[in-house]
Amino acid sequence: MSESSTRLVTAVIVVAAGSGQRLGYGMPKAAVPLGGEPILMHALRGIVASGVASQVCVALPAGDQGLRQLCDDFREELADGGPLLTIVDGGSTRADSVRAGIAALMDGIEAVLVHDAARALTPESVFHRVSDALAAGAAAVIPALPVVDTVKTVAATTGDDTAFAPEVVTGTARREELRAVQTPQGFTIGTLLQAHQAAQDLDQQQATAVTDDAMLVEMLGTPVHAVRGSTQSLKITTPLDLIFAEGLLEGPLGARWVEG
Ligand code: C5P
Repeated sequence: MSESSTRLVTAVIVVAAGSGQRLGYGMPKAAVPLGGEPILMHALRGIVASGVASQVCVALPAGDQGLRQLCDDFREELADGGPLLTIVDGGSTRADSVRAGIAALMDGIEAVLVHDAARALTPESVFHRVSDALAAGAAAVIPALPVVDTVKTVAATTGDDTAFAPEVVTGTARREELRAVQTPQGFTIGTLLQAHQAAQDLDQQQATAVTDDAMLVEMLGTPVHAVRGSTQSLKITTPLDLIFAEGLLEGPLGARWVEG
Protein backbone atom coordinates (compact mmCIF):
# COMPACT_ATOMS: atom_id res chain seq x y z
CA MET A 1 0.00 0.00 0.00
CA SER A 2 1.42 3.38 -0.88
CA GLU A 3 -1.48 5.83 -1.50
CA SER A 4 -1.36 8.53 1.15
CA SER A 5 -5.17 8.80 0.95
CA THR A 6 -5.45 5.53 2.87
CA ARG A 7 -3.22 6.73 5.72
CA LEU A 8 -4.53 7.65 9.15
CA VAL A 9 -4.60 11.31 10.23
CA THR A 10 -1.13 11.46 11.69
CA ALA A 11 0.94 13.64 14.01
CA VAL A 12 4.71 13.36 14.30
CA ILE A 13 6.09 14.12 17.75
CA VAL A 14 9.74 15.16 17.33
CA VAL A 15 11.70 14.79 20.55
CA ALA A 16 14.48 17.37 20.43
CA ALA A 17 14.90 18.27 24.10
CA GLY A 18 18.09 16.30 24.79
CA SER A 19 21.20 18.04 26.08
CA GLY A 20 23.57 16.50 23.54
CA GLN A 21 26.31 16.15 26.13
CA ARG A 22 27.87 13.16 24.32
CA LEU A 23 28.28 15.29 21.21
CA GLY A 24 30.30 17.80 23.24
CA TYR A 25 29.23 21.01 21.48
CA GLY A 26 28.07 22.81 24.62
CA MET A 27 24.64 23.34 23.10
CA PRO A 28 21.48 21.20 22.70
CA LYS A 29 22.05 18.50 20.10
CA ALA A 30 19.16 19.75 17.98
CA ALA A 31 20.98 23.07 17.51
CA VAL A 32 24.33 21.56 16.44
CA PRO A 33 25.14 22.43 12.81
CA LEU A 34 25.07 19.67 10.20
CA GLY A 35 25.81 20.69 6.61
CA GLY A 36 25.39 24.33 7.63
CA GLU A 37 21.96 23.93 9.28
CA PRO A 38 20.90 22.85 12.78
CA ILE A 39 20.24 19.11 13.14
CA LEU A 40 16.60 19.88 13.97
CA MET A 41 16.01 21.58 10.60
CA HIS A 42 17.09 18.45 8.74
CA ALA A 43 14.69 16.37 10.83
CA LEU A 44 11.79 18.79 10.27
CA ARG A 45 12.38 19.07 6.54
CA GLY A 46 12.48 15.27 6.21
CA ILE A 47 9.19 14.86 8.06
CA VAL A 48 7.40 17.53 6.05
CA ALA A 49 8.80 16.19 2.76
CA SER A 50 7.46 12.72 3.58
CA GLY A 51 3.92 14.11 3.52
CA VAL A 52 2.71 11.81 6.33
CA ALA A 53 2.01 14.50 8.96
CA SER A 54 -1.05 16.67 9.56
CA GLN A 55 0.66 17.98 12.70
CA VAL A 56 4.32 18.17 13.71
CA CYS A 57 4.78 18.66 17.43
CA VAL A 58 8.34 19.53 18.48
CA ALA A 59 9.54 19.08 22.08
CA LEU A 60 12.38 21.56 22.69
CA PRO A 61 14.68 22.11 25.66
CA ALA A 62 12.64 24.28 28.05
CA GLY A 63 13.48 27.96 27.58
CA ASP A 64 15.65 27.52 24.46
CA GLN A 65 14.83 30.68 22.54
CA GLY A 66 17.12 29.91 19.59
CA LEU A 67 15.45 26.62 18.68
CA ARG A 68 12.02 28.12 19.30
CA GLN A 69 12.82 30.93 16.85
CA LEU A 70 14.06 28.36 14.33
CA CYS A 71 10.71 26.51 14.56
CA ASP A 72 8.77 29.78 14.32
CA ASP A 73 10.70 30.68 11.15
CA PHE A 74 10.12 27.19 9.70
CA ARG A 75 6.40 27.57 10.38
CA GLU A 76 6.42 30.72 8.21
CA GLU A 77 8.26 28.80 5.51
CA LEU A 78 5.67 26.03 5.35
CA ALA A 79 3.29 26.54 2.50
CA ASP A 80 -0.46 26.79 3.13
CA GLY A 81 -1.79 23.29 3.48
CA GLY A 82 1.39 22.12 5.24
CA PRO A 83 1.22 20.48 8.66
CA LEU A 84 0.37 22.39 11.83
CA LEU A 85 3.66 23.04 13.67
CA THR A 86 3.34 22.99 17.46
CA ILE A 87 6.15 23.68 19.93
CA VAL A 88 6.21 22.34 23.49
CA ASP A 89 8.76 22.34 26.31
CA GLY A 90 10.34 18.88 26.64
CA GLY A 91 10.87 17.15 29.97
CA SER A 92 13.81 15.79 31.92
CA THR A 93 13.56 12.35 30.27
CA ARG A 94 12.75 11.38 26.68
CA ALA A 95 9.47 9.81 27.84
CA ASP A 96 8.53 13.10 29.56
CA SER A 97 9.22 14.92 26.29
CA VAL A 98 6.97 12.46 24.42
CA ARG A 99 4.22 13.01 26.99
CA ALA A 100 4.51 16.79 26.58
CA GLY A 101 3.99 16.24 22.86
CA ILE A 102 1.00 13.97 23.41
CA ALA A 103 -0.63 16.68 25.54
CA ALA A 104 -0.45 19.11 22.61
CA LEU A 105 -1.94 16.88 19.89
CA MET A 106 -4.82 18.38 17.95
CA ASP A 107 -8.28 16.83 17.85
CA GLY A 108 -8.81 14.22 15.18
CA ILE A 109 -5.33 12.68 15.27
CA GLU A 110 -5.63 8.91 14.63
CA ALA A 111 -1.95 7.90 14.64
CA VAL A 112 1.28 9.27 16.12
CA LEU A 113 4.84 8.80 14.91
CA VAL A 114 7.42 9.49 17.63
CA HIS A 115 10.71 10.55 16.06
CA ASP A 116 14.14 11.43 17.47
CA ALA A 117 15.41 14.75 16.10
CA ALA A 118 18.82 13.07 16.36
CA ARG A 119 17.81 10.77 13.45
CA ALA A 120 17.88 13.84 11.24
CA LEU A 121 18.58 12.09 7.91
CA THR A 122 15.82 9.48 8.05
CA PRO A 123 14.65 8.88 4.45
CA GLU A 124 11.03 9.54 3.50
CA SER A 125 10.61 5.86 2.64
CA VAL A 126 10.92 4.92 6.31
CA PHE A 127 8.11 7.31 7.30
CA HIS A 128 6.02 5.77 4.52
CA ARG A 129 6.67 2.17 5.61
CA VAL A 130 5.68 2.95 9.21
CA SER A 131 2.57 4.93 8.21
CA ASP A 132 1.48 2.32 5.70
CA ALA A 133 1.70 -0.47 8.28
CA LEU A 134 -0.48 1.56 10.66
CA ALA A 135 -2.98 2.18 7.87
CA ALA A 136 -3.01 -1.56 7.20
CA GLY A 137 -4.14 -2.20 10.79
CA ALA A 138 -1.05 -2.49 13.00
CA ALA A 139 -1.33 -0.82 16.43
CA ALA A 140 2.42 -0.32 16.83
CA VAL A 141 5.19 -0.24 14.19
CA ILE A 142 8.94 0.24 14.49
CA PRO A 143 11.66 0.56 11.84
CA ALA A 144 14.44 -1.92 12.46
CA LEU A 145 17.59 -3.34 10.87
CA PRO A 146 19.40 -6.66 11.28
CA VAL A 147 22.39 -6.49 13.62
CA VAL A 148 25.85 -6.94 12.07
CA ASP A 149 27.84 -7.43 15.28
CA THR A 150 27.68 -10.49 17.49
CA VAL A 151 25.96 -9.30 20.69
CA LYS A 152 26.84 -10.68 24.14
CA THR A 153 25.44 -10.09 27.60
CA VAL A 154 27.85 -9.26 30.41
CA ALA A 155 27.90 -8.90 34.17
CA ALA A 156 30.28 -6.95 36.37
CA THR A 157 32.99 -9.12 37.93
CA THR A 158 33.23 -9.37 41.70
CA GLY A 159 36.52 -7.53 41.73
CA ASP A 160 38.52 -10.47 43.13
CA ASP A 161 42.07 -10.99 41.90
CA THR A 162 41.09 -13.76 39.45
CA ALA A 163 39.32 -11.15 37.32
CA PHE A 164 41.11 -10.10 34.12
CA ALA A 165 38.64 -7.38 33.16
CA PRO A 166 35.76 -5.44 34.71
CA GLU A 167 33.12 -7.50 32.93
CA VAL A 168 32.53 -11.20 32.33
CA VAL A 169 30.48 -12.58 29.42
CA THR A 170 27.27 -14.30 30.52
CA GLY A 171 25.85 -15.28 27.14
CA THR A 172 25.58 -14.73 23.40
CA ALA A 173 22.33 -13.60 21.80
CA ARG A 174 21.14 -15.36 18.62
CA ARG A 175 22.01 -12.71 16.05
CA GLU A 176 19.36 -13.69 13.55
CA GLU A 177 16.69 -12.84 16.14
CA LEU A 178 18.13 -9.40 16.95
CA ARG A 179 17.13 -6.06 15.41
CA ALA A 180 18.56 -2.58 15.93
CA VAL A 181 15.57 -0.33 16.38
CA GLN A 182 15.15 3.20 15.06
CA THR A 183 12.53 5.93 14.84
CA PRO A 184 9.95 7.04 13.74
CA GLN A 185 7.98 4.58 15.85
CA GLY A 186 4.29 4.64 14.93
CA PHE A 187 1.24 3.96 17.07
CA THR A 188 -2.49 4.33 16.86
CA ILE A 189 -3.42 7.17 19.16
CA GLY A 190 -5.23 4.87 21.61
CA THR A 191 -2.22 2.55 21.88
CA LEU A 192 0.23 5.40 22.56
CA LEU A 193 -2.05 6.99 25.17
CA GLN A 194 -2.53 3.66 26.94
CA ALA A 195 1.21 2.92 26.90
CA HIS A 196 2.23 6.28 28.38
CA GLN A 197 -0.60 6.12 30.92
CA ALA A 198 0.73 2.74 32.11
CA ALA A 199 4.27 4.18 32.21
CA GLN A 200 3.22 6.55 35.00
CA ASP A 201 2.91 3.52 37.30
CA LEU A 202 6.50 2.34 36.77
CA ASP A 203 8.98 2.84 39.59
CA GLN A 204 12.14 4.89 39.03
CA GLN A 205 14.29 1.87 38.13
CA GLN A 206 11.75 0.49 35.65
CA ALA A 207 11.22 3.93 34.10
CA THR A 208 14.97 4.39 33.58
CA ALA A 209 15.11 1.05 31.74
CA VAL A 210 12.54 2.24 29.18
CA THR A 211 14.51 3.45 26.14
CA ASP A 212 11.77 3.66 23.53
CA ASP A 213 8.00 3.94 23.22
CA ALA A 214 7.57 0.49 21.71
CA MET A 215 8.86 -1.03 24.95
CA LEU A 216 5.90 0.49 26.78
CA VAL A 217 3.53 -1.03 24.22
CA GLU A 218 5.24 -4.43 24.62
CA MET A 219 4.53 -4.17 28.36
CA LEU A 220 0.81 -3.85 27.54
CA GLY A 221 1.01 -7.14 25.65
CA THR A 222 0.10 -5.43 22.36
CA PRO A 223 1.99 -6.77 19.31
CA VAL A 224 4.66 -4.45 17.90
CA HIS A 225 5.48 -4.93 14.21
CA ALA A 226 8.87 -4.22 12.63
CA VAL A 227 9.33 -2.77 9.14
CA ARG A 228 12.65 -2.16 7.39
CA GLY A 229 14.61 0.81 8.73
CA SER A 230 17.56 2.49 7.03
CA THR A 231 21.26 2.86 7.78
CA GLN A 232 20.76 6.49 6.79
CA SER A 233 18.62 6.88 9.93
CA LEU A 234 21.69 6.85 12.16
CA LYS A 235 21.16 8.49 15.54
CA ILE A 236 23.64 11.36 15.80
CA THR A 237 25.05 10.84 19.28
CA THR A 238 28.85 11.11 19.19
CA PRO A 239 31.25 13.31 17.19
CA LEU A 240 31.92 10.31 14.90
CA ASP A 241 28.20 10.09 14.07
CA LEU A 242 28.31 13.73 13.06
CA ILE A 243 31.20 13.00 10.71
CA PHE A 244 29.18 10.14 9.14
CA ALA A 245 26.15 12.41 8.78
CA GLU A 246 28.23 15.18 7.17
CA GLY A 247 29.62 12.54 4.81
CA LEU A 248 26.12 11.42 3.83
CA LEU A 249 25.14 14.99 3.04
CA GLU A 250 28.25 16.28 1.34
CA GLY A 251 30.83 13.63 0.64
CA PRO A 252 31.46 11.69 -2.55
CA LEU A 253 29.37 8.83 -1.13
CA GLY A 254 26.46 11.14 -0.23
CA ALA A 255 26.32 12.49 -3.75
CA ARG A 256 25.64 9.02 -5.16
CA TRP A 257 23.88 7.20 -2.40
CA VAL A 258 20.38 7.57 -1.05
CA GLU A 259 19.23 4.45 0.73
CA GLY A 260 15.55 3.61 0.61
O1 C5P B 1 19.62 10.92 24.62
P1 C5P B 1 19.15 10.15 23.43
O2 C5P B 1 20.13 10.18 22.31
O3 C5P B 1 18.61 8.80 23.74
O4 C5P B 1 17.91 10.99 22.91
C1 C5P B 1 17.09 10.54 21.86
C2 C5P B 1 16.17 11.69 21.44
O5 C5P B 1 15.35 12.06 22.54
C3 C5P B 1 16.95 12.94 21.00
O6 C5P B 1 16.39 13.45 19.80
C4 C5P B 1 16.77 13.88 22.17
O7 C5P B 1 16.73 15.25 21.80
C5 C5P B 1 15.42 13.46 22.75
N1 C5P B 1 15.27 13.75 24.18
C6 C5P B 1 14.25 14.60 24.60
N2 C5P B 1 14.12 14.90 25.94
C7 C5P B 1 14.98 14.41 26.84
C8 C5P B 1 16.02 13.53 26.44
C9 C5P B 1 16.13 13.21 25.07
O8 C5P B 1 13.48 15.09 23.77
N3 C5P B 1 14.84 14.76 28.11
